[in-house]
Amino acid sequence: MTITAKRAVDRDRVRATLAHEEAAYRERTPRSAELHARARRALPLGVASSFQTYDPYPLFMTDARGSRIWDADGHEYTDFDMAFGVLAAGHSHPLLAAELQRRVANGTCYTFPVEDGILLAEEIMRRFGADLVRFSNSGTEATMDAIRVARGFTGREKIIKFEGGYHGHHDDVLVSIQPPREVMGPVEQPTTVPASAGIPASRMAETVIAPFNEPDILAAILEAHAGQIAAIIVEPVQFNIGVVPPRPGFLERLRQLATAHGAVLIFDEVKTGVVLAYGGAVEHYGVQPDLVCLAKSIGGGIPIGAFAGRAEVMRVIEDVPQDGPGVGIEHSTLAGGATRVAHLGTFNGNPLSMAAGLVTLTRILTRDAYPELHRLADRLTAGCQEVLDEFALPGYAINVGPKGCVMFTPARVTSYRDFIGLDAELWEASFFYLANRGILLPPGPDDQWTLSVQHTQSDVDRHIDAFRDFAREVAG
Ligand SMILES: Cc1ncc(COP(=O)(O)O)c(C=O)c1O
Repeated sequence: MTITAKRAVDRDRVRATLAHEEAAYRERTPRSAELHARARRALPLGVASSFQTYDPYPLFMTDARGSRIWDADGHEYTDFDMAFGVLAAGHSHPLLAAELQRRVANGTCYTFPVEDGILLAEEIMRRFGADLVRFSNSGTEATMDAIRVARGFTGREKIIKFEGGYHGHHDDVLVSIQPPREVMGPVEQPTTVPASAGIPASRMAETVIAPFNEPDILAAILEAHAGQIAAIIVEPVQFNIGVVPPRPGFLERLRQLATAHGAVLIFDEVKTGVVLAYGGAVEHYGVQPDLVCLAKSIGGGIPIGAFAGRAEVMRVIEDVPQDGPGVGIEHSTLAGGATRVAHLGTFNGNPLSMAAGLVTLTRILTRDAYPELHRLADRLTAGCQEVLDEFALPGYAINVGPKGCVMFTPARVTSYRDFIGLDAELWEASFFYLANRGILLPPGPDDQWTLSVQHTQSDVDRHIDAFRDFAREVAG
């Protein structure tokens, strides 16, 4: 659809709505306020991960089942956040809950391998066209390990990451996530901007930034670093700046460029894997990377991570070929005498995560689950788009598979630099308005709703109705 430039909001009205809804939020949730005040005396920012906090304070939760979650004041919400997209299976799916009860009663950590680990690896191989798999405990570990494998394989040190992409909280990739406009540099050569204090300049020097959806610029960047790039890591859909899909042909070109430059192509499928489709973005877009990184939804709500891919690349965990695997690079410098890439972790492949992953993938997120997930998501997007049109609000609704959002900006976002223009106040007003009416979205405009197999059409319709009421309120 065409978005007209005429769309604008009455700023005073948006601010009044936001102030009113934030006051109502405080009024409704005194127990969360109290718990957060106490938490601040025990935990920096009062939370276990800095992503979990927002102003004035986060909701503290007590229970969740299916598509519902309850806060510490006893309010029920239909959950569209789904734990930052972890829960395509929904909360405590009965099949998963039963299996976990059995597993908890029989030991949750052995540090000896279990058969479920083989079965889960084989399931991932089938879905993603991978030859070999390794497990870890989070998305961060998965991308960290995949990058080390790529470095071991190529004997190179630098990686390319896209501006606006998020790949976890290790130093190599905690850069140029949402860099301030003043420091992000020219689009042809974006600056590597740390997203945290404490990242050594020496680490940042190894991460080269490229703009998403700009294959010609990427080609030039690769040329400028010829023979140096170990890996290109990409979220196939940029799901950490709302929803930014790849332009047609972008992923294909990425594949060609990575091959031409001897770089390992890593799809970070932590958000897309087993959510967009049975075989994640690999299946959805029909482009085969060298490695995929998985976490979140593959565990149905239990911590897990994995990376998987081509045998030739993954085999460096067994043996780094000392003469180079066909990219004409000397390995001696980077390997420093080491003959393997280390991939380690006490909790890797633990019986609890393996059982959770196996039930989730083989009994819940089965192939026949996806058509309904897509249908509900398309309905939610279409419903929100109708509302935006009806009230001429500046924004558009978008989804890729079961993940979507309203982007409060009039023009389509194709990369991070367009996302900067997003109307944060309008988004914030919508977040509190919907939360106060029992519709819970992720607490940030850079995240998106995720539907699960336990959401229903009436959940989706309730969301659309609440969004219509919000639109009526701000449009006047
Ligand atoms: C695309 C992507 N990669 C990696 C990660 C890191 O995963 P985790 O938080 O499990 O470490 C995230 C987390 O949101 C993510 O969205």
